[in-house]
Amino acid sequence: MFDALQALPPDPILALTPAYRADPNPDKIDLGAGVYKDEQGNTPVMRAVKKAERILLAEQDSKVYVGPGGAAGFNDAIASLAFGGKLKQTLGERRVTLQTPGGCGGLRLAAEFIAQANPEASVWVSDPTWPNHMPLLGAAGLKIAKYPYYDLHSHSVRFDAMAECLSQAAANDVVLLHGCCHNPCGADLDRGQWRQLGDLALDKGFTVMIDMAYQGLGDGLEEDVYGVRLLAEALPELLLVSSCSKNFGLYRERTGALSVICRTGAVAKAAASRLAATARANYSMPPDHGAAIVQTIMEDAELRADWERELAEVRDRINDLRAALVHELRAVGLQRDFSFIEREKGMFSFLGVTPEQAEALVSQYSIYLVKSGRINIAGVNQANIGYLARSLARLLRDEA
Ligand code: LMR
Repeated sequence: MFDALQALPPDPILALTPAYRADPNPDKIDLGAGVYKDEQGNTPVMRAVKKAERILLAEQDSKVYVGPGGAAGFNDAIASLAFGGKLKQTLGERRVTLQTPGGCGGLRLAAEFIAQANPEASVWVSDPTWPNHMPLLGAAGLKIAKYPYYDLHSHSVRFDAMAECLSQAAANDVVLLHGCCHNPCGADLDRGQWRQLGDLALDKGFTVMIDMAYQGLGDGLEEDVYGVRLLAEALPELLLVSSCSKNFGLYRERTGALSVICRTGAVAKAAASRLAATARANYSMPPDHGAAIVQTIMEDAELRADWERELAEVRDRINDLRAALVHELRAVGLQRDFSFIEREKGMFSFLGVTPEQAEALVSQYSIYLVKSGRINIAGVNQANIGYLARSLARLLRDEA
């Protein structure tokens, strides 16, 4: 039965991590998968997370099932973080939030839910987008369409082309937006553009889905959800996928949520039952530990304040690294303008290299990055920034 199966190519992002680990070159640099790294190249457990784990170890007195929708306290906390207390209250029974196995679980659950509501729906994704969006959404049988998003030459959002393209989306199609810190390009919509998109969604009748994987890593916890809150208030329907992988550093704990806003409370009730049944049919219920950590942090003023402080440290370090990298690339004599790296947000930017050059950086210099040229800025540090800039300068000079 299995003999005819062909092997699939390795995952374009995740395969970089074992390849990096196996590389004996002492100068190797990991700019691949989107995980935060400190100055020593470690991905530490956040202070508040450690404390919450100690509390859970001491106080948790049961491992009984939580149910397909996960923990109500976590769902409430994550919805407050995204929507804010006031808007959450305004949305009232029109909103339903379910804990999911990471953002990926939320996206997949959303895709299956969309397919139930409208099997003919296309999901419009940005070009470029996170490569895993396509399999996650496509696996539910949805058609994928692309809208132009990022101009590799001007390093800016192609907003006019994007709006023009999305004006062709059908009513009841879904348009997927990155809430902040666009993955892979780091270029976000500005406030005016969010407003225009909201108007377009109202006008055309498509439903917006927002992937919010980096809340707090761009400009700040509140600033980063400007678009989410604007559209949640303005539109009759919205899907929001939240991830706690990056902002709580809970990567392997698979902690996320799907929020769905419906036209009425009655529709939201039907949606909730379908979402729960879909979760049940897929994985029965989400894992508890990461969500319990997040809930513990969010419900304890001291832990929450410490988490916010550490998240700000992470954000500031990434922004400092962006500036340092631009400076270093200039210092090694590269004529090309890399200043866009400093303007972009979150973990990622394109380095502006071709797929062949990206492969050469991996094979000749042990600098690991995604073939698209995407780098994880957090993988840069004071010890490797010089080697990175010199290697890039040499590669680009050799090819000139
Ligand atoms: C990334 O984009 O590198 C991260 O979100 C890790 C992943 O799952 O791809």
